[in-house]
Amino acid sequence: MEKSAKKPVVMSGIRPTGILHLGSYFGALQNYIRMQDEYECYFMVADLHSLTTHPDTKSLRANVLHVISEHLACGLDPDKVALYCQSAIHETSELYFYLNTLAYKGELEKTTTFKDKARLQPQNINAALLTYPSLMAADILLHRALYVPVGKDQEQHLEMARNFATRFNHRYGEIFPGPLAFNFGAALVKVPALDGSGKMSKSENQNATLYLSDDDALIRKKVMKAKTDEGPKVPGTPMPDYIENLFHLLQLVSTTEVYEKFVTDYNQCSIRYGDLKKQLAENMVQFIAPIREKAIVIRNNESYMQEVMEKGAAKAGESAKKTMQLVRDAIGVKYF
Ligand code: TRP
Repeated sequence: MEKSAKKPVVMSGIRPTGILHLGSYFGALQNYIRMQDEYECYFMVADLHSLTTHPDTKSLRANVLHVISEHLACGLDPDKVALYCQSAIHETSELYFYLNTLAYKGELEKTTTFKDKARLQPQNINAALLTYPSLMAADILLHRALYVPVGKDQEQHLEMARNFATRFNHRYGEIFPGPLAFNFGAALVKVPALDGSGKMSKSENQNATLYLSDDDALIRKKVMKAKTDEGPKVPGTPMPDYIENLFHLLQLVSTTEVYEKFVTDYNQCSIRYGDLKKQLAENMVQFIAPIREKAIVIRNNESYMQEVMEKGAAKAGESAKKTMQLVRDAIGVKYF
């Protein structure tokens, strides 16, 4: 029998430092789901990474299970992809060490996310915070992934992963492909926060973020509180950013007809933002409610959750073991 060609490897991760929101869906999960048939996919919950900023582990387990259940509720199939938790794959920490020998203090200190986080937690600038990019590179290189679906904020980390791979290959032999940023189809979808300032976020700006677990009343309340104004008085008035954002959100969850109706109303200066927000709220409810309900059912099925976590760890573990054999051989740390 002819062996089918190996599918290109895709790897990505989400930190469990909060729960998923509409931005996670359109920025990451939607892409994952479209990739699961065509690629060999490794999707991970980055619990080790979260320890660099959230050392208190009281809610860690619940958050990890929550995030996994939402991956499943959005349509990821644990039989098609490896859906797993970072800490279950011990080889990650081994590769992380080797990559740390190739990572320079200067470049780590210059990383934007390190500088931002160091400013936010001056009392806890730990070594793992500094070497966050080495750990992320280990996640990716452990599966010798070619494509990494990530948002803009992770591009610098990915570039560092590419550099570490190149350095490793030069020093010890060609093992790693240089991982590339990747998104299925069109450009990245940005999901603005409801207050017009920045993006939706797992842990900040909670009143302006729609979570995949928000109940219907909360979704309506958050949408109805979004900032608007009296509307344009003369045709051709440019849209303020907070209004543009509402249109952007409408485009994600409403029909083209609905979206275009409100654009026309805006252009004709007859728009009623109360109506727009009511429409947006209803369409958000229609979008989020089925995901929320499904995630609850999945999460409550503890034995199924356990099974998914085990299956994911086994798949990711198998790939990790293969890579680490090559890595140890290449470095020459093998004595018997
Ligand atoms: N650093 C990523 C974030 O903060 C999460 C992450 C960890 C990741 N390991 C990864 C993303 C590997 C892509 C590939 O969102």
